[in-house]
Order: sequence, then C-alpha cells, then structure tokens
Amino acid sequence: MCSIIGYKGASYAAPLIIESLRRMEYRGYDSVGIATIDAGNILVSKGVGKVAEVSRALGFQKMPGQIGIGHTRWATHGGITNANAHPHEACTSKVAVVHNGIIENYRELKRDLISSGHSFKSETDSEVIAHMLEESLSVVQDKVKAFVKVCSKLKGAYAFVAVFSDGTLCGSRYDEPLIVGLSNDGYFISSDVLGFLQYTDKAIFLDNKDIAVVAGENLYLYDSDGNAVRREITQVAWELGAADKGAYAHHTLKEIHEQRKTVLSGMDQNEKDLISFCDILLQAKSVYITGSGTSYHSALLAKYIFAKLAKIRTEPILSSEFQYVLDFIDKDSVILAISQSGETADVLNSVKHAKETGAKVLSIVNISTSSLARLSDSFLTVNCGPEVGVAATKSFTGQLSVIYAVTDRLCGYSLGIVSKKQAIASAIEDVLSLEDNTIKLADLLKDLRDIYILGKSLHYPIALEGALKIKELTYLHAEGIAAGELKHGPLALIDENSIVMVINPRDNTFNDVLSNAHEIKSRGAKIIGISTEPDEVYDHFINIPNFDSILYPLIEIVPLQLLAYHLALKKNADPDYPRNLAKSVTVK
Ligand code: F6R
Repeated sequence: MCSIIGYKGASYAAPLIIESLRRMEYRGYDSVGIATIDAGNILVSKGVGKVAEVSRALGFQKMPGQIGIGHTRWATHGGITNANAHPHEACTSKVAVVHNGIIENYRELKRDLISSGHSFKSETDSEVIAHMLEESLSVVQDKVKAFVKVCSKLKGAYAFVAVFSDGTLCGSRYDEPLIVGLSNDGYFISSDVLGFLQYTDKAIFLDNKDIAVVAGENLYLYDSDGNAVRREITQVAWELGAADKGAYAHHTLKEIHEQRKTVLSGMDQNEKDLISFCDILLQAKSVYITGSGTSYHSALLAKYIFAKLAKIRTEPILSSEFQYVLDFIDKDSVILAISQSGETADVLNSVKHAKETGAKVLSIVNISTSSLARLSDSFLTVNCGPEVGVAATKSFTGQLSVIYAVTDRLCGYSLGIVSKKQAIASAIEDVLSLEDNTIKLADLLKDLRDIYILGKSLHYPIALEGALKIKELTYLHAEGIAAGELKHGPLALIDENSIVMVINPRDNTFNDVLSNAHEIKSRGAKIIGISTEPDEVYDHFINIPNFDSILYPLIEIVPLQLLAYHLALKKNADPDYPRNLAKSVTVK
C-alpha cells in the first residue's frame, strides 16, 4: 500500500525520488519522506501530507546526494504523524529504511531490541527493521549477511529498501512487490515500475526473499541464504504519457472519459492467449471467480454473462472470504482472479491457497508484470493504461470488456463483439455527453444522508459498483440493492425524504424493475431512472442509448461514475485521493 523507492547513480537522488513518489502516490498518501546520503551522513526529511505539499514545505528538492530512498505511507501501525512517517533511522544514524507491508511479529522484535538498548522514535512496525540491521551489522559487518539474518526473523509480508551511510543501497521482499530498474546512470529499487518507468524500461522483478545490493556502481543479487543469483531483465511496456491528467481537472475525470477508447482495448485480445485461457476454463469441473471491491463486481457480472451466453456455471467469491470456502476447491477447479493492480493481498492469498490444492489459476489484470499475472497459468490484460485515480473507473469497464471477449470466444463468437466495437464506443460517447445532467443530479443529492441504487440481473453488479463509487468519492452512504430484494427488507428504509436511483434499460428485467420503482414512489420517495426510455414514475431521468442488452453494463456505469465524481466536487472531497484509501491494497 505504501510506495517505496531507492536510487543510487550519477544524478542527484532527491529530484528523481520526488518524481517517483509523485507517480506512485496512489499507493498511499498519509505522509511522505526522503533520506539521502551526503558526505557519509544520512539526511532525513519527512512530514504529513501529499508529496507536492510536503516536498515544497520541507525543500526536498534541495537535498544533496546521489543516493537516497523515499516513501509515501498508507498508515497501518501508528497514527498519521511526522514521527511515524518513513524513512526510519536506527540509533546510530548509519542506516535508514523505507518499508511496505506489515511485520506481524514486530512487538516481540521491538521488545528484544529495546532490551538490548535500542530506543524507538515511532509507533510503526517498520522501525524494527532499521534497528535489526544496525544490530546485525554490529555482529556480522557484512550487509548481505545482515540482510539474510534480519529477513529470516521477519514474519509477515514486506518489501523494504535500506540506505547505509557508506553509500550502499539494499532491498528485499517477501510477498510484497520490489522491482529493480536499470537505467543508464544508475539503479532504482521500487515497489512499482511506475517509480522508475520515466527513466528506464529495463526491470528485474525480484523473487520472494531475494536481496538486491547496489554497491559502488554495480548491482548484486542474492537469494535468502546469501548466495549470488541471476535474475532475468524484463523490458516493461507502458504508455507513460497516459499517467498525466492532461487538460482534465483530475485523473479520475480523465479516466472516466478515456473509457470511450479503453473499453475497446480490453476486447482486443491476442487470439492465442484467448484460446489458451478459454481452453483452461472449458476443462474445469468448477469455476470460481474472485476479486476485491470493484474487481469483485466484475466477477459478479461475469457470473451472469458466462451463464447467459456461454452456459458456464461459476461462483463469484470475495477474495477476502475465499480461504474460508477452500474445502470446495481441488485440482479440477479453476480460479479466475480479477485485479487491476495484480498486487491485492487478498487476491494473491486466494490464488496461493488455490494453487496449493492443485487448482489452475486464470487472471484478468491491468498490469501484465504484476505478481498475479506471474502466478497465473494463463492471463489476459485489460490494457487500459495506468489508472491513477484511486477509485477504479476505466479498469472496471476494461475488465468487463475482457469478460465479454472471453464469453464471445466461449460461445463460438455468437456475441459478435468485434463487429459491435464502434457502436460500443459511440454509446459511451453518448453517455459521456450527459455530464451536465449528472452535475445537476449531484446538486440534488449532495445533502442526502443515504443514496440507494437498484438493479436486477446484469444491472445488480452495476448498482453495487455505482454505490461503491459514491461511497469512496463522496463519503456519503450509498447502497446497491438487488431490485427484487427491496420488499424483503430494505423498503423499510424508504420514506418521503429518500431518493432512489433505478437502473432499468429495456430488457427482460424492465417491467419488474418498473413495478419496484412504483412501489418506492408510493412510499413518497423520489426516483431517478437510468433507462433507455422515460416513464412517468421517474422524477429525474438519465437517458442512455438503446443497445444490445447484454452490453448495457458497459454503458450504464458511466453516468454513475460521473455522478460520483461531481458529487465529490460538491462535497469538497478530492476525487483522485479519497480519504483513508490507497489504490493497491497489499495488506490483508
Ligand atoms: C474501488 C477500488 C477498490 C479496488 C480493490 C481491488 O474503486 O478501486 O475497491 O477495486 O481494492 O483492487 P485490484 O483490482 O487492484 O485488485
């Protein structure tokens, strides 16, 4: 969740590190800090807030030295304070550390360190690593041996980078990503390729427990026992320009608008990859689809689409619940994991558990070099480019596009997705032009306490996803409800002050949902209809274009994303960086 970066090379470290942190800030934005080495001294500067403001206030840019580390934090242990911001130094200021993950046994480790005379300045689990390195180095005097010793004592998932006052930069990982970037003038060690992709596309993805050491002008790699190892250099492909927000006020708005194009990229799958992916799916006795948050909503929608068109029965399971239903899974099962980042801890854990039973793993990811893609027997990519806004928008419709492409293949191309691509792009263009309408609705909804969104069948996962967007971006309570479930309980919440949104384009659910809308209206509530046709029951109406009914989800989510964005602005919330959240949730 936090972002970590280290650099050693011929350039000044601080400006490179600030830029890297800016690009990885979506991973956590509670606090930020930098340490550089100058003339054998470690200089540390850190504070609470976002990269731009803290960096400006503390003058990060002017920090001297060609070696350094940096961090943005998503707090897990210890409040959001300057003291808890990384980097953390040990007692003698000979080593400073930035860490991502959770050291589960930090209490015992800290207790032992305190009893051997170490004093702590923060409440974090991370600070133990700096003191442990200091302690080990006083005994073994060799950084690789010290790393081996320290890592062997850490429990939990971690990735950390340490900088030593003699100018050595080292990093190691276990179940959290850590990638070495090899540029013409030096080395980066980063939690995300975005941390160095502006400088180099040559990367080494470290294996679990690998240790990377940059000493002098060279990079050395070791395994968990301290034996020298070689790892393959990967060329990372990415559209860098797409990570900027261009003329848009926010990344989130840009990413919502980009969907007119990105929705098509997910459908453009390499034929060979698509065939091998579908073959694995077809051979399965049982198929489980897993994901978290938005990606779980894609999983839920996949269940309807696979069932309707490909006649395949699947079971969607939230990744955080997955291990509790493991009893059903065996070597004849297939797990389809959906994840934008490919680094979500709950998803990776599910997949690891499943693999232990011999099940095959398929995945749909946006980042083809991610841990999830690497763990999969076969994967397909969403190809929507970097998604910087913390709330998933274009990656959601991108995941749906891949699901449609897979379904099309499974049903002998009877869906004809390729021939519909242009029509899909222009339908999205049409709904994007409804932005003014969503701004007016945002005015209507901004003072409500609760917002309800109803949908049935394919529209139910969209109701859930629309509600999640409103919750995340606006901090209002929003609830997606299966329209038919209303009378089984939630109707009790409705009164004359309620406003209920109803997703109801013309398809086989249309009449039932219209009846539900009437039931709500007769309790005095106001109704906002999202539909292909107006009806007297709607007090407000968002008119989406008539379309191939199975593809409606791709279209109807867009006005809900726009509404959530504009509601956030009305409520003075930052739509790109919702409070308490981080984009890549790499802790359980
Ligand atoms: C919602 C959102 C989160 C993510 C979830 C899974 O807008 O962004 O709910 O969908 O944390 O993330 P990935 O897809 O990276 O596994």
